[in-house]
Amino acid sequence: MSRTRTSDVLVIGGGIIGLVTAWRAAGRGLATAVVDPEPGGGAAQVAAGMLAAVTELHHGEQTLLGLNLASARRYPDFAAELTELTGQDLGYRRCGTLAVALDADDRAHLRELHILQQQSGLESQWLSGRECRRLEPMLAPGVRGGLRVDGDHQIDPRRLAGALVSACERAGVVFHRVWAQRLTVTRDRAAGVVTADGTVLGAGQVVLAGGSLSGRFAGVPQDVLPPVRPVKGQVVRLTMPRRHGPFLSRTVRAVVRGSHVYLVPRESGELVIGATSEEMGWDTTVTAGGVYELLRDAHELVPGITELPLTETRAGLRPGSPDNAPLIGPTGLEGLLLATGHYRNGVLLTPVTGDALAHALTTGELPEEARPFTPRRFTTALTEQPA
Ligand code: GLY
Repeated sequence: MSRTRTSDVLVIGGGIIGLVTAWRAAGRGLATAVVDPEPGGGAAQVAAGMLAAVTELHHGEQTLLGLNLASARRYPDFAAELTELTGQDLGYRRCGTLAVALDADDRAHLRELHILQQQSGLESQWLSGRECRRLEPMLAPGVRGGLRVDGDHQIDPRRLAGALVSACERAGVVFHRVWAQRLTVTRDRAAGVVTADGTVLGAGQVVLAGGSLSGRFAGVPQDVLPPVRPVKGQVVRLTMPRRHGPFLSRTVRAVVRGSHVYLVPRESGELVIGATSEEMGWDTTVTAGGVYELLRDAHELVPGITELPLTETRAGLRPGSPDNAPLIGPTGLEGLLLATGHYRNGVLLTPVTGDALAHALTTGELPEEARPFTPRRFTTALTEQPA
């Protein structure tokens, strides 16, 4: 084993959640390191980048809504700060979202969502099918109504990841480009990791931000191991023509036969269509069936997509948690914090997660808005069960 190298904070995982944590920790004056063979990789390389606090609202997730909205409000300043610092355009686009219905069932589902949004004090506007097509002329004639949500924006997650790597480098974050193999625990306290090449990395505090891999990271005591699992998402990318005005000018989404489908048009001309949601363990195969379903459903919404070049197919793993909400902050093991379990909202929750972890790393406490997302909610629930 080679010698220990020590930092104040060691972040396991260089996806966008690990990177934002490292960047914000370094900004608070903490000597910070990230261990990941490929910083900037992970689920952000697949994600569409919708910032969809309002259109992805679900019954029973009102607490999560508070965190999602807090993060959405931070996005303009967060994106501006990163762009100013790195000179990189993040593809942040305040284009709005249109959720549409194709049949009576879809329309009933959207009406329910509209009621829930209104009860939650959110802004959304019910439109007829004709009004939807006036906004987005490429929509199918069969669209029977929709919800216009101007507050749901988008960002390009690949650009976001690249900018966060640059921001970390500028802030003096040290990158160890190797797999972290296991956590080391000394005298009941997280002490660092051993890497795949046998290096021992020591740290005052360790943040486990390994996405879906966090749930099986070696060396983490069973009672603090985060209950996250991989949820596969397949995504396809097409290229839109530039000739006759925008193909789509905002994100368009729907639930078709019970599956979510969304089309996210970027200013670069890329059109991202996602995403399947599959409980398939660690499998990241792109399947004919997955691509077929995405294109079939997207085609029902926007028939013109069949004319577009298909440029990429990809599958990634969302870190799902038992309540679909992230696990953020200190755990029952001294010196170990979590930043994982962001499930469908990793890109949206990036700014607020960075701030919450920086606060926790410097004060030992989560800020008010992040407290419901303490990892301890799962261990407490276990110990409080009646005998
Ligand atoms: N938030 C979009 C997805 O997870 O597919």
